Amino acid sequence: MQTPADLIVILGTGGTIAGTAQSASDGVGYTAAQLRVEDLLAAVPALSARRLEAHQVAQLDSKDMDFATWQRLAAAVEAQLARPEVAGVVVTHGTDTLEETAYFLHRVLAPRKPVVLTAAMRPATALAPDGPQNLFDAVQVAGTPGAAGVVLAFAGRVHDAVQVRKAHSYRVDAFESADGALVARVEEGAVRVVGRWPVGEALGTARIARPAPQWPRVEIVSNHAGADGAVVQALRAVGVDGFIAAGTGNGTLSQGLDAALRDAQSAGIPVWRSTRCDAGPVMDLPGLLPSAGALSPVKARIELILALLAEPAA
Ligand code: SIN
Repeated sequence: MQTPADLIVILGTGGTIAGTAQSASDGVGYTAAQLRVEDLLAAVPALSARRLEAHQVAQLDSKDMDFATWQRLAAAVEAQLARPEVAGVVVTHGTDTLEETAYFLHRVLAPRKPVVLTAAMRPATALAPDGPQNLFDAVQVAGTPGAAGVVLAFAGRVHDAVQVRKAHSYRVDAFESADGALVARVEEGAVRVVGRWPVGEALGTARIARPAPQWPRVEIVSNHAGADGAVVQALRAVGVDGFIAAGTGNGTLSQGLDAALRDAQSAGIPVWRSTRCDAGPVMDLPGLLPSAGALSPVKARIELILALLAEPAA
């Protein structure tokens, strides 16, 4: 008899959702990544009827996310999804680099089963923590028939990995999807699908097998008043494999920054133009440095790293 795929696996990586403070009224002076994923589940008795399994993959403040942790996480998610009894995976994470991890997993795994990232803006010790509700919602999304791809369940909304950005530094509803695109809403535990589950072509974990210290170094440089390109020269002096320009507006660059980046491109260093704007694509126009499309600078950086990883190591 075939086992029903009803197991949801929760993978913990740390973040504010696992953070603790000295006092319940302290919503900012806390330490992230203190509680284990089993503790987070214990705070949500409403999940006790579910078939769940929990594993700790990492325990960090996501501002310190790194390539080695991404490799470990991608391997752990892939291994769990390969189990026939697993319906979906939930990843608890910090909010600060959540959109980067989501995009990375989307491009590497493009899973047919749901991989639902979730997080919290308030530590677990807060007067009204948001983590338990977000974790509850994430499990509902991961167990939704037909759900697929890498998404973020947060504050009652389900965002796709490509569109989502952290848009607020403090508000509990901190994430937005570009152009308002949403995958679903979670209302009293019911998942109401309003968009499309994000699927695509997986690059595969073989692409990210190179030891983390040997991954390409891609840096983001920003256009702003007075940008003269000196930062590009400084980065080239220490060694850089690619640049993402976070341009103004439609990816525009000051004359000095444009000249420095074109010089880098002529020396064989790939350069893509993105935008500092919160949403919208950068148009590819003849004569300009290539556009990163509608990817935000941090996601364009991941895309360029993954592209460079396809090339033999230098
Ligand atoms: C983190 O990103 O790990 C800390 C901040 C947060 O989760 O909100």
